[in-house]
Amino acid sequence: MAAARRAGETKRATRRLATINANEGSQVLDIALPLSASGADRSAERDRFAAVRQQSETLAGHLSPEDQAIQSMPDVSPTKWHLAHTSWFFETFLLGPLDPAYREFDPAFAYLFNSYYEAVGPRHPRPERGLLSRPTVDAIAAYRDHVTAAMLRFIETAGEAVWQRAAPLIELGTHHEQQHQELILMDIKHVFSVNPLLPAYQAPRPHAVPPEPPAAAWAEFAGGLDEIGHTGPDFAFDNEGPRHKAWLEPFRLATHPVCCGGYLDFIADGGYRRPELWLSEGWAAVQQQAWQAPLYWRCEDGAWLIFTLSGERPVDPAEPVCHISLYEADAFARWAGKRLPTEAEWEIAARDLPVTGNLADSEHLHPCPDAASANDDPALRQMIGDVWEWTASPYVAYPRFRPAAGAVGEYNGKFMSNQMVLRGGAAVTPADHLRITYRNFFPPSARWAFSGLRLAEDL
Ligand SMILES: [Fe+2]
Repeated sequence: MAAARRAGETKRATRRLATINANEGSQVLDIALPLSASGADRSAERDRFAAVRQQSETLAGHLSPEDQAIQSMPDVSPTKWHLAHTSWFFETFLLGPLDPAYREFDPAFAYLFNSYYEAVGPRHPRPERGLLSRPTVDAIAAYRDHVTAAMLRFIETAGEAVWQRAAPLIELGTHHEQQHQELILMDIKHVFSVNPLLPAYQAPRPHAVPPEPPAAAWAEFAGGLDEIGHTGPDFAFDNEGPRHKAWLEPFRLATHPVCCGGYLDFIADGGYRRPELWLSEGWAAVQQQAWQAPLYWRCEDGAWLIFTLSGERPVDPAEPVCHISLYEADAFARWAGKRLPTEAEWEIAARDLPVTGNLADSEHLHPCPDAASANDDPALRQMIGDVWEWTASPYVAYPRFRPAAGAVGEYNGKFMSNQMVLRGGAAVTPADHLRITYRNFFPPSARWAFSGLRLAEDL
């Protein structure tokens, strides 16, 4: 039986569970969890679990206990909260229900580290996570060790019937923790950015520097009837399916994401002062929040500086612009006489590309210039990694999306409104967490994600 599953014949070990998205705090869904091909291998899942847990601790290892306690705005969570919450996830959805030998670490943690699961019970208010001086970083480290050890023991000793139920949950839990690893980096960047000392999370990483930004070039697509969405035995979040038909008119995509050089031209041309370029809500945000440039940019003596996880430095015109809202992406596209791609256009353009690029594993933790590209080459570059690319598509359910039978109805599609889809991963996204079909999403005003844009045009 195990061999058959490894061959991809998935046992539909269907589970119901409230789940998460990269936009932690913005989605709860009930999902049917198939036992994926990779999840069927117990030793592989054990290794992946151990590696993911270790990676969270490696990320936090750059930080002092004081760093790990700060919440700089309601959307940001303290590092130590992420470390505890990802442990709570395994404790609540896996060890508690499935391991009779498990002993809860601290009953109070269920209230502190539940993010938004109504069915699990009440929780500490999200905007007040930064008020939790206790439990300490050391206590949370002990909690993590307790949960990790229990999980490793469980993976090794669970009977086959229990394992069939547990494996999809463990796989989901590791992907959940990887989403929080990206959030740890997004959040600590914001935390450091509001400190006048502008601390650096890490030393700058060397990267190749092109002589100038890439010239505008385009890749063309014929359109027609096609399909998008996840299918097959490998893991995916429920919102990536079902695979379904999509009709596309002929279009073209820019070979590169928009770079800071182009964005500087937009700023210099009065981009933030011209209401005709903006969606109504976007123009209101510009005025109310006094936006003049992307988040983490500031102008000093006429020169633009950018704050990164490696500290502050001059803006590099050749690197993809990052930390812009959907409103800014849309205004830039209008200024350029182009538009944002739909998520179907993006996925069909990207579907044959390898899922490799400047992702978290490259350790730049910042978008890099494309030093390898010839300017007249019509091949798509940097689709994967560097920056999440805003699309013109609202985050809604795909056709025929349905949660598992009997799923708790209150959670269905709960957050599928008022958010927009982003595609492709960023320089802070774990590499083995990403897929071409991955749908990230944020409210159109959000800027603290590593978000940029790529232009599209009708043919
Ligand atoms: Fe979460």
